[in-house]
Amino acid sequence: MDYQLELNWPEFIEKYWQKRPVLIKRGIKNFIDPLSPDELAGLAMENEVDSRLVSHQADKWQVSHGPFESYDHLGEHNWSLLVQAVDHWHPASAALMQPFRALPDWRTDDLMISFSVPGGGVGPHLDQYDVFIIQGTGRRRWRVGEKIPMKQHCPHPDLLQVDPFEAIIDEETEAGDILYIPPGFPHEGFSLEASLNYSVGFRAPSGRELISGFADYVLANELGSQRFTDPDVPARDEPSVILPQEAEGIRQMMLDLIQQPAHFNQWFGEFISQSRHELDIAPPEPPYQPDEIYDALTQGDSLHRLGGLRVLTLAGNVYVNGEAISCEHPAVLRQLANKTALTQDDFGDALDDPSFLAQLAALINSGYWYFNDQQ
Ligand code: SIN
Ligand code: CO
Repeated sequence: MDYQLELNWPEFIEKYWQKRPVLIKRGIKNFIDPLSPDELAGLAMENEVDSRLVSHQADKWQVSHGPFESYDHLGEHNWSLLVQAVDHWHPASAALMQPFRALPDWRTDDLMISFSVPGGGVGPHLDQYDVFIIQGTGRRRWRVGEKIPMKQHCPHPDLLQVDPFEAIIDEETEAGDILYIPPGFPHEGFSLEASLNYSVGFRAPSGRELISGFADYVLANELGSQRFTDPDVPARDEPSVILPQEAEGIRQMMLDLIQQPAHFNQWFGEFISQSRHELDIAPPEPPYQPDEIYDALTQGDSLHRLGGLRVLTLAGNVYVNGEAISCEHPAVLRQLANKTALTQDDFGDALDDPSFLAQLAALINSGYWYFNDQQ
């Protein structure tokens, strides 16, 4: 299913992105759910899938984590099942992320899907990330408040909430409505009837994550072996003093490591192309031979990217799930990076190059791309 978004992106970005929450009524016309509540419940029974159940009775909140064995204990009210990274496990749901690709892939994270019965929700809270919450089947009342400093508290060890807030948006959402919420705006969704919600979530690294990721790269690549030198060290009366120029020299030494563009780009490409959620990697058995790939594509089969696989381009290099891939056909590499499904035309004469076919075979045999009949 192709989801079409009725949205003027430049205008949206100028007015709302990272600035103000907004409800886009009927952002997707004739919305059809990509999965059923039963399918979602089934996914939450799988070991690899990250899920939780949140319920409340008379102000007492409960959270339990999947995989779940049964849902028999649940009543008809006040609970919600939330499943992370469904785009990694369910291709039809992954299609919901496509219309948001006007925003760059490196900023996206995952598709979280929730199913709520009447009264269900996770309570008033803040998120650190931008999110587009699409209403699927059912109706839900969404409230969003102003971004003001708010104390967070835990009504349950696994649940972070804020106190009640005054609403700047207070609406009932119906199928196809899209609620955009920037980081830090308190919000709460309260289900009016059995309801599915799809959250297209974004990711924005913190300075802490960046420094720690870069430190890992420095260690793995054995960079930064040079040591501090001070052939002109000023003798001092007060031995405890670190001179400002000495501290500055140390700071400069650290900055020099980051300021090597080739290393910086390689690190960032590797770092940001890693997925934060498990991938459904299932290498084909037996592995594909290059000529089988040639045959499949020339016979009209299409090649699909594994859901959630991050493929990003930086300074002409393409990074796939934390690794740079090189290739002598830059135009094809661009297609692989930008499209999630490819056919013979996307490959052009690269298909006649045995070394390209061998590379493509390696990507397919590692489970990163697949032909439709595999899944
Ligand atoms: C939900 O779908 O219930 C939670 C989405 C959110 O508030 O981020
Ligand atoms: Co939220």
